[in-house]
Amino acid sequence: MQGLELPSDPNLIVGIERVDDAGVYKLTEELALIHTVDFFTPIVDDPYWFGQIAAANALSDVYAMGGKPLTAMNIVCFPVRDLGIEVLQEVLRGGLEKLKEAGVVLVGGHSVEDQEMKYGLAVIGLVHPNRVIRNQGARPGDLLVLTKPIGTGVVSTAIKAQLAGEETVRRVTLLMAELNRKASEAMVEVGVSACTDVTGFGLLGHACEMVDGTAVGLRIYASRVPFLEEALEWASMGLLPGGAYRNREYRKHMVSNEGVEEVVFDLLFDPQTSGGLLIAVPKEREERLMGLLEEKGVKASVIGEFTSDHPSRVRVLP
Ligand code: CO
Ligand code: CO
Ligand code: CO
Repeated sequence: MQGLELPSDPNLIVGIERVDDAGVYKLTEELALIHTVDFFTPIVDDPYWFGQIAAANALSDVYAMGGKPLTAMNIVCFPVRDLGIEVLQEVLRGGLEKLKEAGVVLVGGHSVEDQEMKYGLAVIGLVHPNRVIRNQGARPGDLLVLTKPIGTGVVSTAIKAQLAGEETVRRVTLLMAELNRKASEAMVEVGVSACTDVTGFGLLGHACEMVDGTAVGLRIYASRVPFLEEALEWASMGLLPGGAYRNREYRKHMVSNEGVEEVVFDLLFDPQTSGGLLIAVPKEREERLMGLLEEKGVKASVIGEFTSDHPSRVRVLP
């Protein structure tokens, strides 16, 4: 945030300059608040499921910090003349259901009239000040774990173009609506070095954030990354969202493609909605983390490793 004079406060643990998933503010020696906000335009046609996905996505940054979400407030932009109020009610019902599932209390919200609908939430979570999991902090030798498959940006593009079949829409909708809670609980229990969630910058964009300006680099093996099958198919047909190219352009100085098919490399930059957690785990705790994730029903994959060989760079290998 250049040109802005940022506030300094001894209790601010993670501030805006950290480019982390959420802000963290210490209240006492035992307790810190996690602050995050997220909202966006509909990515599926069904308003109820859009509400669920938007809420899961907004809660995700709290989970990525190793915290427990506590309260939330709705943020609504709505074209009341174009869409019936029933549509808004369905969106809010979806969001509320997701909050209930997460054990989060809705305490209020704000709505404005707008030409295009947008929905999301501001969320507050709790964490112990000494147990904040940042997006940086990985050490050489740590392994990189991903907890959801990649490709929701491509599939959302296909949904908008009315190319996606009913079964695909249903399956990918459920995937995006899935909370990162269990994955977060597992990593908190095991103890990990760093974590972020995969969202708008794509897998490689967020992987870059984990090593940018640090003494560690990252090797990612494309063949170990789980992709949505349809996403691979549609991406091969050229159906990639513009965001994927922007993400790739933005990080091209940090990332090298070392023998991976172009379309797969592009997909690694596909902007995700409510994507999985990207976790750096010490090698000796990997087995325990993967076992616990499986026990909780989270399908996770080890997709790479941190290294001291090429600091602040991400090498993508087949
Ligand atoms: Co995030
Ligand atoms: Co973030
Ligand atoms: Co966010």
